[in-house]
Amino acid sequence: MAIREIVTVPDEVLRRKARKVTVFDANLQKLIEDMIETMREAPGVGLAAPQVGISERLIVVEYPENDEEEDAPKKLFVVANPEIVKVSPETEKGIEGCLSIPGLVGEVERPLQVVIRGQNRRGQPVRIKAKGWLARIFQHEIDHLEGILFTDRATRVWKPTPEEEATLLD
Ligand code: CO
Repeated sequence: MAIREIVTVPDEVLRRKARKVTVFDANLQKLIEDMIETMREAPGVGLAAPQVGISERLIVVEYPENDEEEDAPKKLFVVANPEIVKVSPETEKGIEGCLSIPGLVGEVERPLQVVIRGQNRRGQPVRIKAKGWLARIFQHEIDHLEGILFTDRATRVWKPTPEEEATLLD
């Protein structure tokens, strides 16, 4: 495994629509392992392949499935070609940051629950139901595959206070 360099704005790879993953070979497994290590080292709760300069539809997320439970264990998700197939009508505002946009946060309103379809690291189909922060992380990472950044969706963007920084979503 290796830690890869995280690409930051205004690198144009962050604005490109990423290519579909079609080959689930050893190179892809290596990229996945590197993305997991890079996310953990940052540290962050999610990372999309364009953020390490690879314009492919691949995301990793590590966050509890249900963060309302106390001490809920983190769960690692690796999803290739993720698609949001269902969103709840209920939305929620939350404060987001991004490893590719250092020093800024923004308030973003997103659906509270989503259903994601995609493929696991072996290419097998997966379906994930997510709510709350986990749903927000998935939406943020999937946006990266379309070249969309949280600052595009935010109603306001600002430099966080140290207290806000401690609770950030990457
Ligand atoms: Co991001």
